[in-house]
Amino acid sequence: MTRLRQTDDFGNKAEAFEEADNTVLSPAEAKTFGDIVNARYGRRDVLRGVLGVSAVTALFGTTALTAAPGTARAASGSFAFAELESGNDERHHVAEGYDADVLIRWGDPLFDDVGPFDPQNQSAADQLRRFGYNNDYVGFLPLSEDGKRGLLCVNHEYTNEEVMFPGIGRQDNKDFADMTRALVDIEMAAHGGSVFEIARDDAGKWSVVTGSKYNRRISMLDTEMTVDGPAAGHARLKTAADPEGTRVIGTLNNCAGGMTPWGTYLMAEENFHGYFWTDKLNADGKPVIEGPQAASLKRYGAPGRWYNWGQHHDRFNLDKEPNEVNRFGWIVEVDPLDPASTPVKHTALGRFRHEGAEAIVNGDGRVVIYSGDDARFDYVYKFVSSGTVSDDREANKKLLSEGTLYVGRFQADGRLEWLPLVHGEGPLTAENGFESQADVLIDTRLAADALGATPMDRPEDVQPGEKGRVYMMLTNNTRRKEGQEDAANPRADNAFGHIVEMVAPQEDHAAREFTWSILVKCGDPRVAEVGAQWGPETSEHGWFASPDNCAIDAAGRLWVSTDQGSNWGKTGKSDGLYAVETEGALRGSSKLFFRCPVGGELCGPYFTPDQSALFLAVQHPGTDGTKNFKGFERNSTFEDPATRWPDFVEGMPPRPSVVVVTRKDGGKIGG
Ligand code: FEO
Ligand code: CA
Ligand code: CA
Repeated sequence: MTRLRQTDDFGNKAEAFEEADNTVLSPAEAKTFGDIVNARYGRRDVLRGVLGVSAVTALFGTTALTAAPGTARAASGSFAFAELESGNDERHHVAEGYDADVLIRWGDPLFDDVGPFDPQNQSAADQLRRFGYNNDYVGFLPLSEDGKRGLLCVNHEYTNEEVMFPGIGRQDNKDFADMTRALVDIEMAAHGGSVFEIARDDAGKWSVVTGSKYNRRISMLDTEMTVDGPAAGHARLKTAADPEGTRVIGTLNNCAGGMTPWGTYLMAEENFHGYFWTDKLNADGKPVIEGPQAASLKRYGAPGRWYNWGQHHDRFNLDKEPNEVNRFGWIVEVDPLDPASTPVKHTALGRFRHEGAEAIVNGDGRVVIYSGDDARFDYVYKFVSSGTVSDDREANKKLLSEGTLYVGRFQADGRLEWLPLVHGEGPLTAENGFESQADVLIDTRLAADALGATPMDRPEDVQPGEKGRVYMMLTNNTRRKEGQEDAANPRADNAFGHIVEMVAPQEDHAAREFTWSILVKCGDPRVAEVGAQWGPETSEHGWFASPDNCAIDAAGRLWVSTDQGSNWGKTGKSDGLYAVETEGALRGSSKLFFRCPVGGELCGPYFTPDQSALFLAVQHPGTDGTKNFKGFERNSTFEDPATRWPDFVEGMPPRPSVVVVTRKDGGKIGG
């Protein structure tokens, strides 16, 4: 039998996930930009990043470069902190003058009746009362005007059994032989999200209010959700347990997300395909995919068999329940102010590997949500609500139920077209397999293929900022071959990723046409073959690779966190948080502010509205790429991890944790 990838090349699930992402599922070939370039410039010059600004302007037109002029800042830059040195060790580090305190760790109690965490004594029921595993998205909702109380909303994306449970090691390498129903249920309980109150003391330090009436665990195991929008109740969403197709237990692989302007929490379901199972394998051990949904399953990469939940829960076994897979891959809305509320899966926002879901209120009152489909050669989307935001919070909570979903097509002249995914329009008709808007949304990827969207280098966070600008993190794509480059994805074998800035005309986020430009091309600027592009004040510590999550602070500045996976061995740098200039002469200059302990990726980031605190999620510490960790050079296990961050207590494995950064003098983060 074949599992995910049984080679020792992968130290853990996260690395194997990355490799699985390498499987190109998008049929769309990148439009060949080469012809356009060759007409005016040597293509290799463009690819190697040696063209100056004037040449790029000539190539793409001035709009892409001048749509975001801003005011030139002083050469000292807009971020007032001394850059941290890059590197990699067992601990986390933050720039001088700041504290980075651990706020909450996997296993910490959320309720008063829960004792200290004992990793040797785990159960699903106990895990449901504690902070879950692998914190990813972090959102903050203020509860008081003095800024001293708030709710933290945190996603728990996935689980790493080899450092989570004693005595079993990696399981996808051994047919999940030790993954009992009891352990599977703990995994399911550790997925989902946490909502909990935090409070700031007079010294400016934040702590968890255990037992607050707001505290809540949302899990894969036992949280009931409703489904709304055009696909709710559709035949393809009906299962034995839910003949109406409108109620689902649980959410999974909640990666990034967003907070809405009306104070709800959006959880993005990303790699859902990996949780589905089949026993039908071909001679090579690959799943046999057939039946009426075969094209859809193939396009989504399901069943991935990354977890063996389907051996213990029939609904994750596609042989027994073919429609359960259609009930994941959505955006989930949670009302953190009402812990008894039922989360809603909004089908109007489409079904794909949603990295996140970041909202902005358009000038006309409609809400616009940006979301990337995190896979190589997949697309960027935006949703525009039909209704407008009002003072009626309950009405606002229905805004994501109805609207138009668009997918992006990037033109070489600097224009970005947003193509509507509307049944009956263009190729989205019954003749092409789309019987209804429900089909268009359940098979969003297939619909976007038909429309001719631009295949991107793995879109992660997509974050609207000020002045109509929207930043898209493109983390990497080593499968893009020479000849497949295009203007928005200009490097073949793009190992280090890039960031695209999209600009809404007159700040109209509902517009059908934007402009765009590349903010940075990541990687080491000293190595010509990398073809990196950075602003002039980027030091050896400040350049980075694999942008993943990001935030815009109260001053409108961009902060980017990275996830290199096992590739950090190529850069010699831990994942971290970087402050990136977007204005004036220093545009594209980057400075390192925080870095992770070995093997962790950095998620979050999220600022309090007063910019006095910054929340960072350190995910899977001690796991990624530890074979490159000097002096350790092996894969981590529960008993033998590369770091025991953040506790450093013998017997306690590394614990994914949220860190809160504050300035020692109480000032604003980044000045
Ligand atoms: Fe869960 Fe796209 O990172
Ligand atoms: Ca991510
Ligand atoms: Ca990632």
